Order: sequence, then C-alpha cells, then structure tokens
Amino acid sequence: MLEIVADFKTARVRFRTERAVRLRLKPTRRIHGRRTVNLRQTPALRPHDIIRALVSQITTVGGAAWDAPDASPGLMPALEGGDVLFLPALAFDVAPSELRLFSPDLVGAAKNVSFDPRSGRLGGTSLDGADRACLRDLLARFSVSASALVGRVLPAYRDRFELGRTSFRPVEIAGRASSWRKDDTRLHVDSFPATPVRGKRILRVFSNVNPDARPRTWRLGEDFESVARRFGGLIRVPLPGSALFLRLLRVTKSRRSPFDALMLQLHDRMKADADYQTQTPQLRVDFPAGSTWIAFTDQVSHAAMAGQYQLEQTFLVPLSAMLDEQRSPLRVLERLIGRPLV
Ligand code: SIN
Ligand code: FE
Repeated sequence: MLEIVADFKTARVRFRTERAVRLRLKPTRRIHGRRTVNLRQTPALRPHDIIRALVSQITTVGGAAWDAPDASPGLMPALEGGDVLFLPALAFDVAPSELRLFSPDLVGAAKNVSFDPRSGRLGGTSLDGADRACLRDLLARFSVSASALVGRVLPAYRDRFELGRTSFRPVEIAGRASSWRKDDTRLHVDSFPATPVRGKRILRVFSNVNPDARPRTWRLGEDFESVARRFGGLIRVPLPGSALFLRLLRVTKSRRSPFDALMLQLHDRMKADADYQTQTPQLRVDFPAGSTWIAFTDQVSHAAMAGQYQLEQTFLVPLSAMLDEQRSPLRVLERLIGRPLV
C-alpha cells in the first residue's frame, strides 16, 4: 500500500513504501482541481508531488474561537477543490457534567447519538431524565457553534445552508463490527440512502472531543473526479419508476434522484473493492483531540480508522451558494455521464 503519514506536530511527512508509486508512474495526465501534473514531462517527480496532485489535501486554518477563526478568502476555493480545512487550535469545550456521560453505552445498536437541531429531537440513545437533557444540550451547543464557524469561515454559504443532523460518536471505530456497506474504515464518499439530497452538497464539521487526548485517524483518498472516472463504468442510472417505488415503500423520504442513486452506487463500489482500498494513493491523517475540521464529505474520499468521542454537524449547501458549482459531484457526474441527473 502506498501510504503517507503526515504528522502535524512535527510537520514531517514519511512514506511507508515507494513501490506503489513506481507502479503508478504511467505517462498519463491527471488533473485535480487547480493541481495538474504531467507525469510524462516530469519523470523526476518525487512521490510526494504525485500524491499532492492526486489526493485530497489538508489546509490549516488558525483561530481558537468558534465565532472568530481566521477567515481567509482562499479557504472557500480550497474546500470546494476537495481540501479538508483543519483547525488545529479550535477545541470544543465539554463541561465536567457532560463528560460524566461519555461512554460507548450511550448508544445501543446505533453507531451514533443523533440530534435534529430544528425539532430538538434526540435519537440513538436510551438515556432519560436529566442525563438525556444534558446530552441534548451538548449537541445543541455544538450545532450552534458549528453553524457560527461555517458562517465565518465560508461566508458565501452563510444564510444559504440547510442545517442537517448533529451527531455524537462515542464508540471506538477501530475493531467495531459492521457490515461492509456501513464500514466507515473503508474509503468512501458520503451519500444518504433514505434522504436524497438532489445534488446539494454534504458539508460536515467534525470536532474530536476525546478526553484522553487520543487522535481521530482518517485516511484521505483520491479526488472526486478520479473516483468517478474509476468507477464510472460500473454505476448505472436506475430505470424510471424505481425512485417512485422506493418512495412508496418508504425506503426513501422523498424521491431518489438519479444523482442520489449514482452516489450511493459509488459509495458501495468503493467500499466493496478491497484492492482499491489498499492500492489507491492515500494520506493518513491524525486529527488530535481538541481539533476541528471541515470537509465536503460527498466529494472527499475518506475513511475513519480509529478514535472515540467525536461531535459532527451536517449542513446541506445548495449548488447556487458555491463559488464554482462545476466542482460539485453533481456537475462532475453530469459531465461524465452526459445528461442531467436531477
Ligand atoms: C465518516 O463520515 O465516514 C466517519 C467520520 C468519523 O466518524 O470520523
Ligand atoms: Fe463518511
């Protein structure tokens, strides 16, 4: 496997192996947003340069306050180009009374505690009484903080995004049993089986609130267009009528668009392909406890490998709020398939 380990504390990048890199030195031209590499003309490229061109990158953002981090104008193009915005100093404060509740037993069969900030409904936990109210307050507070952060760092999305679910993830990821389709330790792009997004972007804010200073370890894979090209021949626009059928059976909460169907297939094809999982270029990232990061997870190929106790807020962003909607999965897939998908 070609794996790069980036250590933010020492700013060191190590290579696990270079064998796979040599295998990839085909005379092809790969384009990743604003990064272009012509491997034929630059045979002396170091593995690191190739990875920079093919794999999602980390853009570091300063600031230790949720409502006032550094809001440089370059952040939106970086995010829309497939980077993860990383805020190493932005910790979400958990009160001792909340910390008392931290346990994997909070969730039963569910992976996460889930909160709907619009209705105030809390799900996925069997807690009741004062403990339940305390947990609900924690998630509600995170939702408000994450919304302020997005409004500040990504001003064009302010007043345009739709607030989705908030989640708390108290279960250790490493070694957790799950079906291959639900296994988030496999590289994938996010898509929602029950709630079609019809091309809207899935923007997520994550905060590692691990009380034992344990990092959350992710892998980042290749850029969305490369993923779409690689699996494009294996995904199909479903027959007309199947979306209505799923709706009538209440598998989906609204009609599944062809775009949503293709994104689900992409998610599944990526996770089901064991060779792809190990051989695709990838970057391992440790997000330390007390840090926060933001990504379009419908676009960034990602896998969560280890870690426990994380807060997450989902936003749906309309394409019309983007600086460049041509970078969205909807427009990329429409270009590749040659037809409208919503
Ligand atoms: C995922 O979105 O695949 C999981 C991310 C995480 O829980 O860290
Ligand atoms: Fe995911």
